[in-house]
Amino acid sequence: MNEEYAVNVRGLTVAYDSRAVLSDVNIDIKRGKITAIMGPNGAGKTTLLKAMLKLIPKSCGSVTWNEVDGRPPVIGYVPQSESVDWDFPATVWDVVTMGCYKRLGWIKRPKKEDRELSLQMLKKMGMEKCADRQISCLSGGQQQRAFIARALVQQADIYFMDEPFKGVDVATEKTIVELFRELKNEGKTVVAVHHDLSTAADYFDEAVLINRRVIMQGNVKAALTQENLSLTYRGTTGGEP
Ligand SMILES: Nc1ncnc2c1ncn2[C@@H]1O[C@H](COP(=O)(O)OP(=O)(O)OP(=O)(O)O)[C@@H](O)[C@H]1O
Ligand SMILES: [Mg+2]
Repeated sequence: MNEEYAVNVRGLTVAYDSRAVLSDVNIDIKRGKITAIMGPNGAGKTTLLKAMLKLIPKSCGSVTWNEVDGRPPVIGYVPQSESVDWDFPATVWDVVTMGCYKRLGWIKRPKKEDRELSLQMLKKMGMEKCADRQISCLSGGQQQRAFIARALVQQADIYFMDEPFKGVDVATEKTIVELFRELKNEGKTVVAVHHDLSTAADYFDEAVLINRRVIMQGNVKAALTQENLSLTYRGTTGGEP
């Protein structure tokens, strides 16, 4: 078992329609830390997460998930909210208990413990009163909270969250930051795409700056220098290399 890193990415290249979006990406995500993935719109942050999670194919390179207690890690994923089809007919409760299925298999119904865990995570995200509502009828921030509750129910070792703070109010942002710290205290690894430079050093331990390639990675305060930021964000927001 690799004690230091939860996942290692080597030489990762991803292309859409033969146009490379990420080139030769090398990233080491530290175990038990909270890591920000930062970069302008179109930099390839979502593409990176999806390729790491095998949701889209890679052109070349490798992604190595290091074992946790001698078994493959359980990975939780909260997608970027724009990419979710919120019109599917399901209640908040359905969405959250779906988080149990990875452990249960599709056939089994959630057991009492699973129902209790689902309720506990809904409460943690302040969503227990919305359990019976259709997910399509919630506000964007409420949908986000329901999806985070679903990821928590998975009791993952590593959480990947694509812009968890997007569109949430100040109180929810605080809840999510506290949640990150709780997960970290439990020895879990958190990776989140983040845009707000003013809160990054407060919320995160580590940062990976990307714009089609890795510009810098390391301790968040050391990584977010003026020089690295201008290298990452310079030019267009389209992230053309
Ligand atoms: N399915 C797709 N087909 C073709 N091109 C795509 C596809 N998805 C993303 N792209 C392109 O790949 C590039 C990177 O997109 P990606 O969604 O990874 O950026 P991002 O860093 O997550 O941006 P944002 O901050 O806006 O979420 C963009 O130029 C985008 O237009
Ligand atoms: Mg994105």
